[in-house]
Amino acid sequence: MVTYVDDATAPLKNTGQIRLYDRAGFDAMHRAGRLAAACLDELADLIHPGIPTDEIDRFVFEFGEAHGALPATLGYRGYTKSTCTSINHVVCHGIPNDKPLREGDILNVDVTYILDGWYGDSSRMYYVGEVKRAAERLVEVTYESLMRGIAVVKPGATTGDIGHAIQSFAEAERCSVVRDFCGHGVGRLFHDTPNILHYGNPGEGVELKPGMIFTIEPMINLGKPHVKVLADGWTAVTRDRSLSAQFEHTVGVTETGCEIFTLSPRGYTCPPYPAGA
Ligand code: MF3
Ligand code: CO
Ligand code: CO
Repeated sequence: MVTYVDDATAPLKNTGQIRLYDRAGFDAMHRAGRLAAACLDELADLIHPGIPTDEIDRFVFEFGEAHGALPATLGYRGYTKSTCTSINHVVCHGIPNDKPLREGDILNVDVTYILDGWYGDSSRMYYVGEVKRAAERLVEVTYESLMRGIAVVKPGATTGDIGHAIQSFAEAERCSVVRDFCGHGVGRLFHDTPNILHYGNPGEGVELKPGMIFTIEPMINLGKPHVKVLADGWTAVTRDRSLSAQFEHTVGVTETGCEIFTLSPRGYTCPPYPAGA
């Protein structure tokens, strides 16, 4: 049985209670979320065949620094980079390195900034040059899965409704939903209660209430859903080496639906993003 607590009166740690934020919290989350989204917008200009993911990592750090924000992943549980860069069959938590991106790769970049103590968490897919139709289809299905999950967010709905909306769509498209990672409460903490599963049944899970803030971040595979984590302790890959894609938004529940804190200032949704915008 889950209980809810006012962010204003709760200790700044995960107590297992669900924090409910006020309008000032939502406004602060719009600022943090918009900064992560603005960074993801700018990365569309940088990502090309031949650039190493370390260059993306450096951009994420410096863009944050220029706007008074710190990447939340830096030093998080021993992680030493400013972003995660997950290529092709990497499901999530890919570590930036000096290897050049190659024509035809699909890439997820996941950025979380801490701005004035608030966490804005978002990720998007990018195409490196021209990609194969199967890869493009996976990316489109994954984006649509996220947006169908967001579309059911309103008071009285449950986390199971979100998972069901995502799973039923992705599986009807002959794709699979990764079970080993989930969305999460976020706000003044990086990973908070509740977990947001990307699969499930209508009416199950936790009831959504106005003031809740969480991420939805489905990882969708072209093959089987199973993953394994490499020896570096972070990089999660599909066991069958099939392609995987992910999009992530941070949202807040309102009286009538939700607000998305991480919408693109440039209006980008799913790749390909306009060239030289
Ligand atoms: N931003 C990721 C998320 O969506 C978390 C990355 S944690 C890291 O929750 F340590 F792997 F960077
Ligand atoms: Co997240
Ligand atoms: Co993220």
